[in-house]
Amino acid sequence: MTISGHGLQPYRLPAETVPAFARTNAQTIAQRVTLLRELLPDVRAIGELCCGDCARQWAAYRQAFPDVSYRGLDIAPHIVAANQARGIACACGDVMNPEILRQFLGCDVLFFGPPLSQGCDGHNLLAFHEVIPTYTDFARLLWGDLDYQGTLVCICPNTTTMGDVQRLYAQTRIARPDVNLRLLHYSYATRTGHDEVTPLRLKYGELWFSTVLPDVWEVRELGPD
Ligand SMILES: C[S@@+](CC[C@H](N)C(=O)[O-])C[C@H]1O[C@@H](n2cnc3c(N)ncnc32)[C@H](O)[C@@H]1O
Repeated sequence: MTISGHGLQPYRLPAETVPAFARTNAQTIAQRVTLLRELLPDVRAIGELCCGDCARQWAAYRQAFPDVSYRGLDIAPHIVAANQARGIACACGDVMNPEILRQFLGCDVLFFGPPLSQGCDGHNLLAFHEVIPTYTDFARLLWGDLDYQGTLVCICPNTTTMGDVQRLYAQTRIARPDVNLRLLHYSYATRTGHDEVTPLRLKYGELWFSTVLPDVWEVRELGPD
């Protein structure tokens, strides 16, 4: 399903009639916890933008970092209502709306997980340049217009190339010269978001941009323990 969103581009939304799809699963979230412990052990506030069903992340981060605060944002009212019904702080709105995004600037870590498939169902996967909202538009808004200080983890298609990364880095640096790329994390798993067993798969890539971490461009592949 799509709706008209920012400008003329349609956003991609999950259908209300099917259970919410999650690209993340227990294994990929455990990898994020490992990386947060190593790179940002003093994390205080995590925001999850385009959060979808974020119950697993919420539980995992609170267990790993008992004092951390967590907030989600999604544009689909039924997703937001389901998260809120579980007690998760979750706002409804468009991540490209500056007034809404401004509410997340106090988070020292932001995960940005826009739809990576046509109907947010994991079936018709999109290439990096087809993802909406685009990584470049979002980076310009967050780093350039809103002057965010912290770490942004962009969750990207598993087909993302080094050319895509290089272009996004260059565009980000034009908007904000002090933003570094600390890590390219390739996240592998043997589970789906609904815990079905699969062969080992590259689920997605994560680009860890940051004003507080150095410009290392480390490449790391993590899989299930
Ligand atoms: C499939 S989920 C991703 C969930 C999670 N980040 C993951 O990786 O498992 C993508 C979510 O982005 C939401 N979304 C799409 N466009 C958005 C926008 N402009 N602002 C906020 N949320 C948006 C959709 O409603 C959907 O729930």
